[in-house]
Amino acid sequence: MPTNQAGHSDFDVELANNKKVVDAMLERLLAEQKQIEPNIMQAMRYTLEGPGKRIRAAMLLWCCRAVSGTINENAKIAAAAVEMVHTYSLIHDDLPAMDNDDMRRGKPTCHKKFDEATAILAGDALLTFAFEVLSERINNPAAAVALIGELAAAAGPAGMIAGQMADLRSQKKKGNRELLEYIHTNKTAKMFHAAAAMGAICGDADRRQYESLGEYGLKIGLCFQITDDILDVCSSSEQLGKTAGKDTKADKVTYPAVIGLEKSREIVRELAQQAIDELQSFGQEAVFLRQLAMELLDRKK
Ligand code: IPE
Ligand code: IPE
Ligand code: MG
Ligand code: MG
Ligand code: MG
Repeated sequence: MPTNQAGHSDFDVELANNKKVVDAMLERLLAEQKQIEPNIMQAMRYTLEGPGKRIRAAMLLWCCRAVSGTINENAKIAAAAVEMVHTYSLIHDDLPAMDNDDMRRGKPTCHKKFDEATAILAGDALLTFAFEVLSERINNPAAAVALIGELAAAAGPAGMIAGQMADLRSQKKKGNRELLEYIHTNKTAKMFHAAAAMGAICGDADRRQYESLGEYGLKIGLCFQITDDILDVCSSSEQLGKTAGKDTKADKVTYPAVIGLEKSREIVRELAQQAIDELQSFGQEAVFLRQLAMELLDRKK
């Protein structure tokens, strides 16, 4: 991949730019809502402003660009909403009743920094605020309703919540390929599907573009969660900014545990290729979506 003088590829620069765009939007949206209770505001900001990779947001912005050639204001607002819902899911995922984790985004988890009740409410607040923002800020009512529907379906009881429930219930049980795919598709891949589909909606995609990008997002999301499982086994807490080795300790149904590391890596490569194949009808504007699939193959955190 071509690099500039500082050794950064165009992809790295674009990813960093997208991160700046979504961080600025998150800051603006929080600053403008004057009535957020100060303790909750502090807890919301605490995890939200940690060094998240903003991959879902970047994907959304790039999907908007792939169909319209540009990243518009609606896409920036939608990207911020997706990151709010994602951050809520992390705060709740870390709670003692869920994965019971002490470290997130390189810092103590929300419930460790504050307390459990505050972390529950901060998660609730981020989840609800995301939908408030979409309903109020998107400049086209039909697009607003479509975006709200995508995000609710992905995060809701037939999406991420279903995946989280199955993840917890399968702990200490013997898993199989079908269960693994169910858990990972629901708890993680559907949010990536939503991010891609929301980008398509913001870019005013036609039906075929919307469907291809949604499929791309779903494949990337599954690929992303399998890699998360692999990193849990192969990386360190320092590198990840969250506790490594915890899936094995909690006896979770993960890809490496059920089918082994090598087979997991093989599936990741296949999924990345399948994701790229979904982009066949897109031209140069989809270059960063293609690169994202390749980059995720050797992500380190
Ligand atoms: C972590 O997501 C949870 C998963 C679904 C694997 P990320 O790895 O995107 O976490 P951040 O946003 O960069 O902290
Ligand atoms: C996360 O899965 C899924 C969510 C919906 C948050 P994990 O439990 O593996 O995520 P990490 O490893 O704690 O980030
Ligand atoms: Mg979990
Ligand atoms: Mg977890
Ligand atoms: Mg994990």
